[in-house]
Amino acid sequence: SCSAGDSQTVVIGLAADSGCGKSTFMRRLTSVFGGAAEPPKGGNPDSNTLISDMTTVICLDDYHSLDRTGRKEKGVTALDPRANDFDLMYDQVKALKSGVAAEKPIYNHVTGLLDPPELIKPPKILVIEGLHPMFDERVRDLLDFSIYLDISNEVKFAWKIQRDMAERGHSLESIKASIEARKPDFDAYIDPQKQYADAVIEVLPTQLIPDDNEGKVLRVRLIMKEGVEHFSPVYLFDEGSTISWIPCGRKLTCSYPGIKFSYGPDSYFGNEVSILEMDGQFDRLDELIYVESHLSNLSTKFYGEVTQQMLKHADFPGSNNGTGLFQTIVGLKIRDLYEQITSTKTAAPLEATKA
Ligand code: ADP
Ligand code: G6P
Repeated sequence: SCSAGDSQTVVIGLAADSGCGKSTFMRRLTSVFGGAAEPPKGGNPDSNTLISDMTTVICLDDYHSLDRTGRKEKGVTALDPRANDFDLMYDQVKALKSGVAAEKPIYNHVTGLLDPPELIKPPKILVIEGLHPMFDERVRDLLDFSIYLDISNEVKFAWKIQRDMAERGHSLESIKASIEARKPDFDAYIDPQKQYADAVIEVLPTQLIPDDNEGKVLRVRLIMKEGVEHFSPVYLFDEGSTISWIPCGRKLTCSYPGIKFSYGPDSYFGNEVSILEMDGQFDRLDELIYVESHLSNLSTKFYGEVTQQMLKHADFPGSNNGTGLFQTIVGLKIRDLYEQITSTKTAAPLEATKA
């Protein structure tokens, strides 16, 4: 019958260090599905969960097994697997995926304590976001699609300064120290997950300005694994070719330092991938339509949908550069993947009709 597939939940993993743009990405993703995500109504005001019609986003910090005091006593960071309960994470993601609700703990970021659990009902799309969505092999195997946001140290530092100094009153020294203190565990437990990701968004300093260290202009790479079921990479001009494109000319306004796109096949941790790269930023967001018209396999539902999404959220961080563009594209790809999975479940013979 058709109904078996209806209760299936598609599970997406989004990995990144904290302060690396996960919540911005989630806002772009839920917008592609046509709704803004909100905290659960009438629940714990410190809940980390975001719910919309189609998606439920849970924050994996909720699976901390050690609270702030516990971590301090044991001398482990939140990035350390010993501070996290992967057995519970696996049990609950598995339950939700098969249509069964879960009583998920809540890690309270204000108090640093574990609050009483909240009931999570199986959504159409479950996003698990946080430090370790691809760390545990059992959890990893439950993911229908996985994304890693790879923010280079220089850029991470620039973003942290912007937020923690401007908004939270921290000093430059204390921000440097906290990044340094996290680095060993980040390298050991978080960073290696990118080898498992179906898509990686890599954010680097620009190469258009010699010796730039401001971290304002960015070079962003969308690394897309080949051969992933229900996911076919976006391409520029000609699939599989190697291309370098500077679109600044009659159709696109580019002030210094301009914009440069690159595209081509590559390999990443031994996997075959396609990489689309954008260095620089847009002066005028509505001109993005010119770039969009040269990209193929975007999984849009109508001409100009990428540009429309970007214009709709022009106030989100990264809207004038490759971070916003590629997050939007990945959002469209996830919508496509979801539609393919659910349509193959309800109508198996129609499988693989997409070219
Ligand atoms: P997370 O959810 O991973 O903690 P956020 O999406 O809240 O990250 O972003 C944290 C901060 O990083 C933002 O307040 C902003 O200062 C900065 N930031 C995030 N994404 C971008 C971006 N694409 N471009 C510039 N700054 C960004
Ligand atoms: C959460 C975040 C971590 C952060 C931690 C604070 O778990 O995901 O990135 O480090 O809170 O930990 P602390 O031990 O400093 O309270």
